[in-house]
Amino acid sequence: MRKLFFANWKTYLSDTEAETLARSYAERAAAVSADLAIAPGFTALEGVARALEGSSVALGAQDAFWNDEGAHTGEVTPKQLAAIGARFVIVGHSERRALGETDELIARKAAAVAADGMTPVLCVGETAEERDASSQERVVQAQLEAVLGSWTDAPFVVAYEPRWAIGTGRPCEPKDVEAMHAFIRSKLEERNLTARVLYGGSVDPSNLMTYLAVPNVDGVLIGGASTKPAEVLAMLDLLAS
Ligand code: PGA
Repeated sequence: MRKLFFANWKTYLSDTEAETLARSYAERAAAVSADLAIAPGFTALEGVARALEGSSVALGAQDAFWNDEGAHTGEVTPKQLAAIGARFVIVGHSERRALGETDELIARKAAAVAADGMTPVLCVGETAEERDASSQERVVQAQLEAVLGSWTDAPFVVAYEPRWAIGTGRPCEPKDVEAMHAFIRSKLEERNLTARVLYGGSVDPSNLMTYLAVPNVDGVLIGGASTKPAEVLAMLDLLAS
């Protein structure tokens, strides 16, 4: 299976910057031997969708509400995202868990995203304290179970992102990534589920190929480096060679 390079642009770019950068992904996509996806901020979705038209780069969103029906001021529904052309939606990113999102809410979001025909990208990962206490597997297992406990056959992606490695420039040791990805894979297999499992957290041009070579790593979820034009070009060049 081709690796997935998933760019999470968070709140880093203006809409104009997002459209310009999306065009450079689109121009290079054909030369890259990986699947590319971009999740811009909500306000940039339409412009980025236009910039990606005709290319193989998939559009994603960074979050979604858990219900398509009714009146929910300030929310963006999966139905609205599907209509704009999104194919992936991140659920349970640690920056949202930090704002109080629970496993139960994340499970509802994942189900709602899948019900509208999109692929949820479920983020899981432990805090620094949890790793220091060697409880990372217990934490990740609980996060997986909450969402996949009653999952049937809709496609989904898992992103393992140790919370202490996100946006910190302090990447996870490849041997620790390997151990956790093997653990996640075994949990999926127990449930007869197949999914791509991505690694995320301070991935950049200097470590991209190292992570992609780790067993059971099916791609990467990249924040900061995926928004910096020079680093993007460097990473796409590496994927082209
Ligand atoms: P980072 O973010 O690459 O800036 O660490 C990863 C993420 O999107 O969670």
